[in-house]
Amino acid sequence: MEFIKVTKDHAPYIALIELNRPKELNALNLQLMGELRDALKELDNDDNVRVIILTGNERAFAAGADIKQMAGKGTIDMWKVDQFSTWDQINKTRKPIIAAVSGFALGGGCELAMTCDMIVASETAQFGQPEIKIGVMPGAGGTQRLTKALGKAKAMELVLTGKFIDAEEALRYKLVNKIVPVELYLEEATKLASEIAAMSPIAVQMAKESVKRSFEVHLEEGLHFERKNFYMLFASEDQKEGMNAFVEKRKPDFKGR
Ligand code: CAA
Repeated sequence: MEFIKVTKDHAPYIALIELNRPKELNALNLQLMGELRDALKELDNDDNVRVIILTGNERAFAAGADIKQMAGKGTIDMWKVDQFSTWDQINKTRKPIIAAVSGFALGGGCELAMTCDMIVASETAQFGQPEIKIGVMPGAGGTQRLTKALGKAKAMELVLTGKFIDAEEALRYKLVNKIVPVELYLEEATKLASEIAAMSPIAVQMAKESVKRSFEVHLEEGLHFERKNFYMLFASEDQKEGMNAFVEKRKPDFKGR
């Protein structure tokens, strides 16, 4: 891997992926996105990993798709490369992904953070979809996910003007879970990841799947989907362990079976 760094034992059951193109503010070129897709696929199949943290560095989570790589391209080039198919694969990751964001999360960087399940932001984080300033528009989910997170008026403002919002505003609009001082954002993301990693990984993945489904279907179908996953969990040893531990007044030890 040239543009990302993967640490599988960042903390018990937690893998860390660091975007690693610091000079380019982690601009998301095709190779980086391919590496990210492959790493997530591998981690999704690794029983020793229950939660994934995705981060950049203090200055930038990611400043967007690589403009230099796209600048000379035509429609057919873009269609052939089909860069967003990589994103579809990332979106299919079953395990929870927490974005630990400091500095710029712009364009594709903001979209990548929003593709994750939760965002822990440093107080220096800045979010935005500035594609309009370079003659295009968001292409990796920005118009959809930002609108669902912020509501129409604010999303429209950001997408049409390209202006950024800071961490405080992002929290107010419920785009991020929490803000912490810059020296603590990774630690805080790890704390959140550890809490989730202590749960049954099967229940966690089915719960994630169900919450995500609520963005795609109407209520009745979502409730039906949720109910099926709920019943399905009664086939797991973790359900017996969790409920028995409650009755026996002890801490459960979930095995992911
Ligand atoms: N693509 C390629 N290179 C980028 C980049 C990007 N998205 N963002 C920053 N860089 C590069 C700069 O070109 C610069 O490289 P050089 O030193 O070789 O010139 C280096 O990173 C540092 O950047 P700056 O000197 O510009 O740093 P700054 O602190 O002055 O400004 C910034 C920071 C405001 C983030 C500014 O870099 C910027 O506006 N970047 C582009 C943001 C953007 O438009 N993102 C959307 C991209 S399109 C997209 O993402 C489409 C989609 O939906 C998937």
